[in-house]
Amino acid sequence: MCGIVGYVGGQQALPVLLDGLERLEYRGYDSCGVAIVGDLGIGIQKSTGRVTDLRKTIGDAANTTGIGHTRWATHGTPTVANAHPHTDASVSVAVAHNGIIENHDSIRDWLGREGIKFASETDTEVLAHLIGRLYRGNLEDAVRSALHEVEGTYGLVVVCAAEPGVVVAAKKGSPLLIGVGDGEHIIASDASAVLEHTKRVVYLDDGEVARVTASGFTTTTLDASPVTKEVQEIGWTLDQIELGGHEHFMSKEIFEQPASLRDSMRGRIDLGRSEVRLGGVRDFVSRFGRTRRVILAGCGTAWHAALVGEYLFEGMAKVPTEVEYASEFRYRNPVVDSRTTVIAVSQSGETADTLAAVQEAKRLGALSLGAVNVVGSTIARETDAGVYLHVGPEIGVASTKAFTGQVAVLAMLAAHLGRRKRRFPKKECAGFLADLAKIPSKVEEALRCDGQAKSISERLSGRDNWLYLGRGYNYPVALEGALKLKEISYIHAEGLPAAEMKHGPIALISDGMPVVFIATRGAQYEKIIGNIEEVRARGGHVIAVATSGDGRIDKLADDVIYVPDAPEPLQPLLTVIPLQLIAYHAAVARGCNVDKPRNLAKSVTVE
Ligand code: AGP
Repeated sequence: MCGIVGYVGGQQALPVLLDGLERLEYRGYDSCGVAIVGDLGIGIQKSTGRVTDLRKTIGDAANTTGIGHTRWATHGTPTVANAHPHTDASVSVAVAHNGIIENHDSIRDWLGREGIKFASETDTEVLAHLIGRLYRGNLEDAVRSALHEVEGTYGLVVVCAAEPGVVVAAKKGSPLLIGVGDGEHIIASDASAVLEHTKRVVYLDDGEVARVTASGFTTTTLDASPVTKEVQEIGWTLDQIELGGHEHFMSKEIFEQPASLRDSMRGRIDLGRSEVRLGGVRDFVSRFGRTRRVILAGCGTAWHAALVGEYLFEGMAKVPTEVEYASEFRYRNPVVDSRTTVIAVSQSGETADTLAAVQEAKRLGALSLGAVNVVGSTIARETDAGVYLHVGPEIGVASTKAFTGQVAVLAMLAAHLGRRKRRFPKKECAGFLADLAKIPSKVEEALRCDGQAKSISERLSGRDNWLYLGRGYNYPVALEGALKLKEISYIHAEGLPAAEMKHGPIALISDGMPVVFIATRGAQYEKIIGNIEEVRARGGHVIAVATSGDGRIDKLADDVIYVPDAPEPLQPLLTVIPLQLIAYHAAVARGCNVDKPRNLAKSVTVE
């Protein structure tokens, strides 16, 4: 939820920290701060709001060691006092933290009885005081001892006045990596903050502590046993995390979908042999093939992709499939066994509830697979095996290309399992894969509706309640369309299976209320036409997403956006495009911050 960064090297630390924080701002952005270690001790500068605001208030600092933080509040409102880094009373130690210290209350009470005065309402401040009290000339030891006292999750960077040139980092539950440069190291929550300095990174694992200097780093466990780490190469380019001429990352990522879908399928669809090749599950392919039940788990948009996955797995592999909100699955004591495969769907690979669902599934003996975008992320490393989405970095908080990437990967996994189980005839699979391979160019065609989506949004973004309705494979798309509108334009919207309307929500319909129908060709086309009639009869403003060439629909709907035809199982990859664009333009029309919507963050690393 927050973004943290640390720097030690030959350059001035401040500009590196501020640039890194700006790259991490999509993780959380209600306040920020830096701590620079100099000859006179630690200098702290904090601000509410964006890094740009902090830049305005901060002077130059020549020193070469420091830490920084951009916040998504969990404990204490967004104020300067609650912004990180936090220090101990004598400002001899400074801490920036991403995560939650669950037992902070009891530690705060104990420290309070010891005479410690607190400057903030945060959970993190207790860590700064603990480390300060435990410091006996070695920061790494003090951090380890303090971490033995705390429960919860953390990605942590710490500096102290007595050891300029040293940053100590620690990880448990929140992501943290070290960028390995020439004579410098950058510690960060994710790769976007280190890419302009180096492509060589080390991913910290849970329970690890690193002592980082300009010339090198050492890693140990919390009990001080040395740990050897492998340096890996990041596959992304700096361009990929820049706007590339778009006004917002969200619009850039929407228009990247033809390319990102091609990358998701590259080397995985073998049309000649009518089969899918997924190297990432190779070592578990026979166990996966013996699976009797599939559970798809995720949160938010990933959960919507998982819902499409349910239809795909039951359609092609004929295996009982369920979809779980990860946050519910992890506490529900689910009935899971060794013949169950739990597939975690996640863009960031860091969502705390989805990670915990994987750990619960493994505890119960299930095979755990991941459909994840961020390479080297915690869920990717926690699952037994998996398939990367390969859609490139997704910076906009509202997930777009990751949704279509997740649906494409789940489609390939389902076809793969269907073939393994001999329940998906070769000829049918050949047809399906051929259609899947055509999707990227059909998405290019669907993106041509941008102007129309813009005009619909500009006309209707003043309405505060919208409904999204779909059937079958397109029911999850209705949910996704509603979520996109809610999270970036702050318009209240509800997605539903179209038939559910008559059981209550139809009472919401009043004059001019926007109702979006996904009404593409399919087995339930006539049913959806009936639902459109019901809404028209009650004065709703019907916006229909329909199949190109459908001459009937425009007589029924107020606005129609056409998408290319495709078999029903693949329609979600096309029908979601106009809904992403409608939400995007509605947010722009309402003057919202599209890439950094209020109260949200890109990856939810706390419960
Ligand atoms: C979607 O636009 C949101 N950013 C959010 O619902 C997101 O899908 C959810 O938090 C899951 O994130 P993940 O895919 O990184 O696990």
